[in-house]
Amino acid sequence: MSRIAYVDGRYLPHRRAGVSVEDRGYQFADGVYEVIAVLGGRLVDEDLHLERLNRSLDELRIRWPMSRAALRLVMREMIRRNRIRAFGSLYLQVTRGVSPRNHAFPTSAEPVLVMTARTLPPFDLEAAKRGISVISAPDERWRRPDIKTVSLIPNVLAKQRAVESGAFESWLLDVDGMVTEGTASNAWIVTEGGDLVTHAADRSILAGITRTSLLRLAREHGVRLVERPFSLVEAKRAREAFLTSTTSWVKAVVRIDDATIGNGAAGPLTRRLLDWYTAYVAGDGETSR
Ligand SMILES: Cc1ncc(COP(=O)(O)O)c(C=O)c1O
Repeated sequence: MSRIAYVDGRYLPHRRAGVSVEDRGYQFADGVYEVIAVLGGRLVDEDLHLERLNRSLDELRIRWPMSRAALRLVMREMIRRNRIRAFGSLYLQVTRGVSPRNHAFPTSAEPVLVMTARTLPPFDLEAAKRGISVISAPDERWRRPDIKTVSLIPNVLAKQRAVESGAFESWLLDVDGMVTEGTASNAWIVTEGGDLVTHAADRSILAGITRTSLLRLAREHGVRLVERPFSLVEAKRAREAFLTSTTSWVKAVVRIDDATIGNGAAGPLTRRLLDWYTAYVAGDGETSR
């Protein structure tokens, strides 16, 4: 079955799906995006994703390409047309539109919405508990990574460094040696004293939706948590570490550069958080039907 993309009002097979060479997303990275998990045919944390999309659009002064209700319908139609049943993801991107190349905003362009969807292999809980390695890398992004723009080249380069080092992710360090987040995930540690720590959702990180939901679950279960920066040195000495994202859920981090974290597998709090998150996504998400 061929995959179907949504491009500016039309559902097209991927091989025929394309945007204009003068789309500002293509020429200036002048656009924003979201990635939403689909589980059991349902969109996980749909409202939170649409709220974040709204904020990103607002920050860049791009109009909604259609009403929120219409966007929800297109998302459901994409899940249906691409037959995403068990686990998958939906990518949606809104750019400022098509216009002859000029840095200043065009006066008449309409925002362009593009959407793709894909089926993913079932989430591998055992692999998430076995854990992954991360390396540290300088955070070379612009000063508004809290906006989910398609301008991702520093993230791409840092992720590639991780891959070439045999690691899953890079944890990005600010000029003070503090871990901000990963290239496509948020970073967490459990301190020696047992506190759950992650960077506050200020302007220096993306407020991950998985992060938001996990913070809520942790609070509900009475976990002691602190939103503050932590250094690479503190991370390497942490009792536990993990990362979160829409498609990674909660993944134990068992190695940071050359340091082994804990006993080299997911620690007890990481396991509990993964269990709570798994139960949450299995039961939550609004129906796509
Ligand atoms: C830079 C960055 N931080 C964090 C995340 C995690 O966000 P979410 O949990 O919404 O997937 C992402 C996701 O792509 C990201 O790109």
